[in-house]
Amino acid sequence: MRSLLLLAAVGLAAAEDGLSAWLRYARISGANGFHSKLPSAIVTLNATEGSPVYTAGQELSQGIDGIFGKKLTLGTSLARRGNGKGKGNGNDTPTATVGTVHAYVDSNPSAASAIPELVDDGFYLSVSRGEVLILGQNERGALYGAFHYLQLLAQGNCSDFNLASNPNAPIRWVNQWDNMQDGGTHGSVERGYGGDSIFFWDGAVRPDLTRAGQYARLLSSIGINAVVVNNVNADPKTLTPANMDGLKRIADVFRPYGVQLAVALNFASPQTLGGMSTFDPLEQSVVAWWQGIADELYKRIPDMAGYLVKANSEGQPGPMTYNRTLADGANMFAHTLKPHGGVILFRAFVYNSQTLNQTLDWKADRANAAVHYFDGLDDEFADNVVIQVKYGPIDFQVREPVSPLFTHLVKTGATIELQVTQEYLGQQAHLVYLAPMWKEILDFDFRVDDKRSTTADIVSGRRFPRKLGGYAGVVNVGTNTTWLGSHLAMSNLYAYGKMAWAPSSSPETLLREWATLTFSADKKVLDVLTTMSLQSWPAYESYTGNLGIQTLTDILLGHYGPNPASQDGNPWGQWTRADGFSIGMDRTVWNGTGFAGQYPPAIAAQYESPDTTPDDLLLWFHHVPYTHRLHSGKTVIQHFYDAHYAGAATAQTFPALWRTLQGRIDAERYEHVLTRLVYQAGHSLVWRDSINNFYHAKSGIADEQGRVGNHPYRIEAEAMKLDGYRTYAVSPFEAASGKTCIVTVSNSTKATATTVLDDIKTGKYDVAVNYYDMALGNSTWELFIGDGLVGKWKGDIEYNLGRAPSPYVDGQTAARITFPGVKIKKGSVLKIVGTPDGLEPAPVDYVSILPEGIVD
Ligand code: GCU
Repeated sequence: MRSLLLLAAVGLAAAEDGLSAWLRYARISGANGFHSKLPSAIVTLNATEGSPVYTAGQELSQGIDGIFGKKLTLGTSLARRGNGKGKGNGNDTPTATVGTVHAYVDSNPSAASAIPELVDDGFYLSVSRGEVLILGQNERGALYGAFHYLQLLAQGNCSDFNLASNPNAPIRWVNQWDNMQDGGTHGSVERGYGGDSIFFWDGAVRPDLTRAGQYARLLSSIGINAVVVNNVNADPKTLTPANMDGLKRIADVFRPYGVQLAVALNFASPQTLGGMSTFDPLEQSVVAWWQGIADELYKRIPDMAGYLVKANSEGQPGPMTYNRTLADGANMFAHTLKPHGGVILFRAFVYNSQTLNQTLDWKADRANAAVHYFDGLDDEFADNVVIQVKYGPIDFQVREPVSPLFTHLVKTGATIELQVTQEYLGQQAHLVYLAPMWKEILDFDFRVDDKRSTTADIVSGRRFPRKLGGYAGVVNVGTNTTWLGSHLAMSNLYAYGKMAWAPSSSPETLLREWATLTFSADKKVLDVLTTMSLQSWPAYESYTGNLGIQTLTDILLGHYGPNPASQDGNPWGQWTRADGFSIGMDRTVWNGTGFAGQYPPAIAAQYESPDTTPDDLLLWFHHVPYTHRLHSGKTVIQHFYDAHYAGAATAQTFPALWRTLQGRIDAERYEHVLTRLVYQAGHSLVWRDSINNFYHAKSGIADEQGRVGNHPYRIEAEAMKLDGYRTYAVSPFEAASGKTCIVTVSNSTKATATTVLDDIKTGKYDVAVNYYDMALGNSTWELFIGDGLVGKWKGDIEYNLGRAPSPYVDGQTAARITFPGVKIKKGSVLKIVGTPDGLEPAPVDYVSILPEGIVD
């Protein structure tokens, strides 16, 4: 029996599938030694099951048991705690008391003066030799305090302290871009890389909302107070009576965690769902229709947070359809929410994606759109309207200047929209820790009226005094047990919540905290995770798109792999204006689109001239020759080449760093992470070569270091002897070494590519094969050298990585597999056998025979 129990315990501990994320409450080393510093009892000042204070009690009990193996008694009476100083009424049991300030002061009036000032959601924590007081300004705040205490305990911090913590801003929301219906162009979650929606399936709210409850718990533990559960590209059917009932069920599982529900709306719903002839926001019948919806929703969900609306953007309907202003549209919703206390987050992501013309108009610029549409409306918005502004003026690129719209809204509250789901930043198949980028954005000083005016102070409502404002993070978790599709990507969610609470937090501290809670306090583990994570955004920027040219990804397909040409020549307006001599968007006032002039004078002046524009935004603001010299002294083109080599070289170090942790991390998560880091290392080379090949071809300027287009260790597949394979011209050309690859002639017959290794010395090599893994089948490849099988692999990346699937031979599907330490004799025969599957013709780009220490 004993061994059975033991096995069960080990089994539980070993099941590290990521579901508990940073709330594992894993036993810390020397746990017993801490027992005397811990409470022995928990008293909650609200006995109602499902209240956040009640939840806090449950969480404390579960957490302290998990972390220390100490079981606490759980009660609800204040009397047990005595006079609030710990040992009163003859009861010496050290106790953790958790509740609202109000409930506590009710029974301890004399304690009132000792409790610091708290704002909504804030908490006060006092720990003294196991006597713990956790008070929230409201119920949710008390739960936040309990989570904070547990996070300290889980890091082995049992010291005595007093702390008052207030959130930076009242709005700390998450946006999920979940579709009601799977399929279509975007699947279950638009830009989601962690599986299907945890909320919706087949046009309805899921019957089983266990994951939704678990999600609320995770979010609450990092201070998030509301979730917009459906896609901004909203389905009008979200508002059918049956679906409103479903939304109520989601709100019910959120509520114990103090998380409120919000809904994204489709502006045309009165027409498409209501059957009316119009959705004009100034039409009384339309307002009445929306009032009916608000009343129905609040009848079901009295504490609903409010709405999120995307209007007149990317084909979505909006008030401008009827020549009404955006304020007319937003205020209509505000009016219907007002009696219920809800707020409307109205998105500033308004632009025309159909008629912008790059060729005809040098001054056309999508980046100008937000200020263009919102200027002049600042006085018009109702007081429960908040404008939700993406951090940059285009769309979640690897680097953008901070949106100038933040300085044009003085009376109207604003939220900053950040993206946790890595749409343009590697789709969770690349490690990119985003907190350092967010930190730069939040710390950016706009110098409004020559006074310090950081983004964080503007959205918090401090710089221009306003009641509402804060943060919206597009998260897009799915049913995958890792939530986001990758264990390491969860550091971004953790950091997002913590930074929305306290934007002054240090990205490194947050990373270490997250890593300790998620993996372990082992110094080596923390050091490796910190090193990789802090290098990851600069590396990704270096190998994707630098100098402010944006992530040079395929913007027409998956937003994932390289395809710089796709930026230009279409009305999406993510242009680079690259030609044979020059590159970059001229956004100056004197000669360009005028965008630089949307900033307050000091910043506008800085961006107006290439001399004062920081190198990393040069091509965002200026159109310059490839030979233009940067502040660094390099030319633009040489910087491109060097940065792409340097960024990819950094990514090559990640798998080796991670391998040093083998045995220090459970096998399940170790392997899951390793697979992704190895893939990333390979795909960073695809990026490096694609971008360098592209601009090399465009500019005709050679790499000073002779690397670009010169790969002495490569054998091009098309140069091998082919049997059943044929040469195939890849599009875009730069996504293949030498512009071409090989594909099988038939979909059902094996093919071979053979070459004699005459030009190498006998020795040990790392052998890398670059191939394409399309989402059309699972081809098999076998690599033989001499008589020996070096390796065999399947094209099944689409099942292992959540990134956007692609049916093409291109930069999205290009991948590399490496076989280390292969003994090769001069003159032996290398053979690749490709077995096609479905419509995937076992494509191969090249083989690299790499001497030790070289990666190319
Ligand atoms: C991006 C993204 C879309 C999304 C849009 C938005 O363009 O690719 O999927 O709908 O942003 O934020 O509304």
